[in-house]
Amino acid sequence: MVTNRTFTMLKPDSVEKGNIGAILEKINAAGFRIVSLKLTQMTTRDAKAFYAVHKERPFYDELVAYMTRGPIVAAILEKENAVEDFRALIGATNPAEAAEGTIRKLYATSIGENAIHGSDSDENAAIESAFHFSGTEMF
Ligand code: RTP
Ligand code: MG
Repeated sequence: MVTNRTFTMLKPDSVEKGNIGAILEKINAAGFRIVSLKLTQMTTRDAKAFYAVHKERPFYDELVAYMTRGPIVAAILEKENAVEDFRALIGATNPAEAAEGTIRKLYATSIGENAIHGSDSDENAAIESAFHFSGTEMF
């Protein structure tokens, strides 16, 4: 099934650096509608569950520490071809490999601290949206 929604988090480094406004501006300029939006902070349990797919990876503990160290902005976004277009907008996981003009090229520090998350499939977009928002918080 093809949906037109994706899920994102502006990660703690983006909030710490004062980049919320600039990144939301890029997202709006790229044609995404904000369906849901909130500033929140993940607990260790939340981050472990959210990134459970990576639990055997060497960077897992570092990833959980990073994602829980301060507030994030969680959002659901809507656009035609949302998942794929949003992954293109954020750029490669490693900012050193991210294309010019992408959010990670502009705002990420390193492969570990890479500014923003984007769902990698329609199925995960739905799972991740439900992780952070209830049905009544989706507009
Ligand atoms: P995300 O899930 O956050 O959108 O990132 P992604 O798909 O581009 O990358 P993924 O492979 O899913 O990795 C999830 C997050 O783990 C951190 N990471 N650190 N130190 C490392 O080698 C390393 N590799 C990945 C990053 O924060 C990455 O976004
Ligand atoms: Mg991923």
